[in-house]
Amino acid sequence: MQKSKVDVILGIQWGDEGKGKIVDVLAPGYDIVARFQGGPNAGHTIKFGGMTHVLHTIPSGIFHEGKMNVIGNGVLIDACIVCDEIANLRKVGVEARDRMKISDKANLILPTHRLMDAALEQKKGSRKIGSTVKGIGPAYTDKVARCGLRMGDILEPSFPEKYEALKADHLQALRNLGFDVESARIDGKALAEYERAWMDGIAELRSFDILPTEFYLNQALAEGKTVLAEGAQGSLLDVDFGSYPFVTSSSTVTAGVCVGLGIPPSAIGKVYGVFKAYCTRVGSGPFPTELHDATGEELRANGHEFGATTGRPRRTGWLDLPALRYTLMINGITDLVVMKADVMDGFDTVKVAVSYMLDGKKMEHYPSAEQAERVVPEYRELPGWKTSVCEARSYEELPAAFRSYLDFICQETGSQVKVVSVGPDREETIIRSL
Ligand code: GDP
Ligand code: IMO
Ligand code: MG
Repeated sequence: MQKSKVDVILGIQWGDEGKGKIVDVLAPGYDIVARFQGGPNAGHTIKFGGMTHVLHTIPSGIFHEGKMNVIGNGVLIDACIVCDEIANLRKVGVEARDRMKISDKANLILPTHRLMDAALEQKKGSRKIGSTVKGIGPAYTDKVARCGLRMGDILEPSFPEKYEALKADHLQALRNLGFDVESARIDGKALAEYERAWMDGIAELRSFDILPTEFYLNQALAEGKTVLAEGAQGSLLDVDFGSYPFVTSSSTVTAGVCVGLGIPPSAIGKVYGVFKAYCTRVGSGPFPTELHDATGEELRANGHEFGATTGRPRRTGWLDLPALRYTLMINGITDLVVMKADVMDGFDTVKVAVSYMLDGKKMEHYPSAEQAERVVPEYRELPGWKTSVCEARSYEELPAAFRSYLDFICQETGSQVKVVSVGPDREETIIRSL
């Protein structure tokens, strides 16, 4: 029986809400930080001491001495990308090997998975998902098809043979798709070159602690140690509840924590829902409150809304309460975490979508992906706060108009705001004692 709980940090929009920052801020209160899904499609930014760090696979607790970080069984690992992260951390004096354990059941992204991702996107043409092309879809497909390779496999003598067999299957599939493997590039490298770096990465990973982390985590909970689970992507990109097919290939919601770490539902404690005070989306798919005007540009420019993984400009729009109500329900959010309101400091007024109309009728439920393309949001316009929130370090110091904006969100969602982020730095954070 567990003596302590697993608290969860999730993005409750379309990703890039600021999860990495919040995990880094809350990590000192926990013993273990664990990623449970996604892979290097994620880009989690952490700022402190005048430096900016971007993590893709490694949990965002890694900068704190004395904390253990776990890459859970639900995560996908690209040996090249994770070893780049390890090398970057080494440059700033952090030895990930001493602070990290990796599940033997985490599946590998092969170089050919990345080519398959590119080939499948190419085939979709104008209906492309706008994938990060990190091989996520094909690697999860192989996992579910029961032909993937896992971290545990890299420790076995049969690994080279298994690798070659799966690669051969992928090359055959690529030929069938008419994909030109010879001229394709993976992060600027030809397949053979990327593969060499990937194999070097595999060799380095063999020196890490690879184990059935479900035992480690459950034992830790039984001993009263606390765990913080770090989500990647966002609930509206969830493979079941997101705007399918414009989604990622994993369960980004609270339920994903249990299967992605091997812990029981009864072990889940608090669930923090991280959202921006407006909305962004990168890639294709419906976005009901999207702005195509100067205000949208202003949000993109002020918020530096360009992807941490791909550098792509993010689409921007107003805060969407029907979407938040939906993701609060699916996840059982206990506390809200509001990010990036400082981006709207100069706005005279701020709009918030409160409901959707479809074919002239108010919608009772959150729309399907098809309906979401056609809904017309109804907005409430609230006064802007017209002053910088960045300097505030307590809730009381926040401008009254901003607190009214937060009260409105709480009232409309039936939830409470626990954390307010007023800038990208670790220090620019207000944690309320509720
Ligand atoms: P994640 O994927 O959810 O971890 O989020 P990303 O790192 O992809 O994107 C969040 C971006 O917003 C990063 O560039 C952060 O440095 C930045 N950021 C986080 N919180 C704040 C905030 O309160 N204000 C501003 N202006 N930027 C923030
Ligand atoms: P973090 O963890 C924002 C989006 C992609 C695309 C769709 C599918 O940084 O919040 P995939 O590569 O998973 O096949 O892409 O999902 N996407 C993200 N958008 N933040 C992310 O991660 C994302 N990970 C994937 O843009 O639309
Ligand atoms: Mg991100």
